[in-house]
Amino acid sequence: MVVSLVATAFWAMLPAYVPNNAAVLAGGGRPIDGGRTWGGRRVLGDGKTWRGTAAGTLVGTLLAVVLNAVGPAVSGALGVALPTFPLAAGFGLALGAMLGDIGASFVKRRSGRERGAAFPGLDQLDFVVGALALAFVAAPGWFAATFTLPVLAVVLVMTPVLHVVTNVGAYLLGLKNEPW
Ligand code: CTP
Ligand code: MG
Repeated sequence: MVVSLVATAFWAMLPAYVPNNAAVLAGGGRPIDGGRTWGGRRVLGDGKTWRGTAAGTLVGTLLAVVLNAVGPAVSGALGVALPTFPLAAGFGLALGAMLGDIGASFVKRRSGRERGAAFPGLDQLDFVVGALALAFVAAPGWFAATFTLPVLAVVLVMTPVLHVVTNVGAYLLGLKNEPW
């Protein structure tokens, strides 16, 4: 029961977990805000680029397609049912994760935090809120069937933990400038 909940939550969120990491690897190029400022501060900052956003969205969406292909085998091996992703759901999770992260940068800049500054809480949950919101809009029936209240609860507890672990890992590997 618990294994099944955690497996479902993790699997369903993978297309939202991977985009930010793909953006880190693909980042660079033109910032989305084009260097513009608002109130004396950058609208978003150099850390939010078109290339990173597009790459993250693409990778997350493609991952959902791959998960659909390998799902039956993994499901059989684990002995738990796993969700499959309609294309709209995968795309919504991936783009939503990127938009949530972009929204967080907007909030960070408005509160005077420079690029790369930590904002505990927001850093760990921005992309979850974005991903869930856009997945709900893009595929409401799938969302309701997949993200039941227990699954949502697991997502909200598990994600910050995974986020901290992966970001510290990326930092230690020299892929990220800060461990958050
Ligand atoms: N990145 C990107 N486009 C995005 C998100 C991330 O290009 N939409 C890349 C950038 O190179 C960024 C890196 O991934 O520097 C790390 O992402 P993140 O930690 O979200 O950005 P920060 O540089 O820390 O900037 P911010 O303070 O705005 O979060
Ligand atoms: Mg950062």
